[in-house]
Amino acid sequence: MEKKWWHSATAYQIYPKSYQDSNGDGIGDLPGVIDRLDEVKALGADVIWLSPIYCSPLADQGYDISDYFNIDPRFGTMEDMDRLLAAAKDRDLKIVMDLVVNHCSDEHEWFRKACEDPDGPYGQFFYIRDWHEGEPYPCNWRSYFGGPCWELLPGHTDKIYFHAFHKKQPDLNWENPLLRRTVYDMINWWLDRGVAGFRIDAIINIKKFLPFRDFPADRDDGLCSIQRMLEKAKGITSFLDEMADETFRPHDAFTVGEVFNEKDEELPLFIGERGCFSSMFDFSGTLINKSEKGWYDQPPVTMEQYKEAMFASHRRVAGVGFLSNIIENHDEPRGVSFFLPPEGRSETGKKLLGGLGFLLPGIPFLYQGQELGMENTTHTDISEIDDISSQDEYRVALDAGLSPAEALAVVDRFSRDNARTPYQWDDTPNTGFTTGKPWLPVHPNHTEINLAEQKGRADSLYNFYRALIRLRRDPEYADTVVYGSFEPYLEEREGLMAYYRRGRRTLLVLGNYSGAEMTVPLNEASKRVLLNNLERYSEKDGAATLAPWQFVVLEV
Ligand code: GLC
Repeated sequence: MEKKWWHSATAYQIYPKSYQDSNGDGIGDLPGVIDRLDEVKALGADVIWLSPIYCSPLADQGYDISDYFNIDPRFGTMEDMDRLLAAAKDRDLKIVMDLVVNHCSDEHEWFRKACEDPDGPYGQFFYIRDWHEGEPYPCNWRSYFGGPCWELLPGHTDKIYFHAFHKKQPDLNWENPLLRRTVYDMINWWLDRGVAGFRIDAIINIKKFLPFRDFPADRDDGLCSIQRMLEKAKGITSFLDEMADETFRPHDAFTVGEVFNEKDEELPLFIGERGCFSSMFDFSGTLINKSEKGWYDQPPVTMEQYKEAMFASHRRVAGVGFLSNIIENHDEPRGVSFFLPPEGRSETGKKLLGGLGFLLPGIPFLYQGQELGMENTTHTDISEIDDISSQDEYRVALDAGLSPAEALAVVDRFSRDNARTPYQWDDTPNTGFTTGKPWLPVHPNHTEINLAEQKGRADSLYNFYRALIRLRRDPEYADTVVYGSFEPYLEEREGLMAYYRRGRRTLLVLGNYSGAEMTVPLNEASKRVLLNNLERYSEKDGAATLAPWQFVVLEV
């Protein structure tokens, strides 16, 4: 396999709106990111994924772009962006932007022109169809944020347009070569400006199953999950390959696809040696127990399920390519709240979860605040929630017969707002995020969980993540951690997640989430304990004794 700079990278996702505000308007911004670059460096990450900062009405928090060539004034200016790129370069940090090209905003000039002249060239940038009151829509697919995928074209009574996400996010028509060319030119413009690559948003949706048609309805609304069309759509790789040839490959850019529902045969086409992406996210953990009925129907996840999901996905890609590993991102609840049972949510348990995920093969992506163990928040009323998908899921839960209090509890478990509360810098009232009123309330637990406290404490979760990153970069172990083979150990043993990484060295990673002390037989005596989330470690007569929630990395 040809070695690439990004194979050994550790990435850190910044959600700018909630990271650091520099001007007191309660919204994080690019000057704030620049001010905090040394913190990312101190943690040890080498790639920053910036969630969108382009001009946007923020109907979906920037994933609805109204100008791809400018920075939203709330986030700063293009000069700030250039300063950020330069400041990152000085620190040997790479910046990866979010590439949102399945759709744009309904406030984008392309869409405005399409509304003015649906038969003109910009009409062809979207999926616009004739329709008359009382007729069925061209298909009955449910949009990701609820309701049909069709909406009246503004200014018209007999035309509709397609949106897989919110109605303010009209889908771009990738079947149109001119649209594709326009997108590629924009990508190259950013790559030439100095970004190292892209996280590619919702990309699996660019290939539609055409012509539009119905699938059997799966709820009382008469609509069907949009997954049905994704299962049928064929040929996405010809778009992706063309995009890679026209943009990423000539720039040797790093790209990570937000890919759900990939088919087995697509894996090598996506992330193999000549794949269209450098890597793609492994969502198998976040997808555990997902129900097509809605969030209300989703049972809590167990660590046993997490283990099974991780082992299955890393077996599946072995020898094919690099996954990007996450326990959370801006679309998910906090990983520690989602994967750990309440009794495991101590710093010790959080270290176990962080360590088990971090040392899997692939590229670790940390989400801001993960290194502090930031947790889900709670709400007293649905009006406190910003996230559009939470509002939809709340309605879905009520329709299914849950009481408002029960529906709110469901939203608290899964809301995307959980990940979007301001980064917890310190224990001051606005947690060092802003001098104004934060756009989303700060988590009340910032008085205990915050960077200032954890930086000053050697055994903090933050310092544990730093140690994990150091191990990944350590010249003695990097080769094994990055390229070593992956081999589950004692897979059937409940309460234990264990695996080998074998390269120039051999590492055995052990995590005991059973809640009780556990004795684990070893094939060989350990030479060294490289990481331990507790002070003690005991091994004798060919067995390790692990305390509850103990995590160790042994060199054997
Ligand atoms: C992706 C983004 C998410 C956004 C959606 C639509 O899933 O991560 O935040 O809502 O795409 O762009």
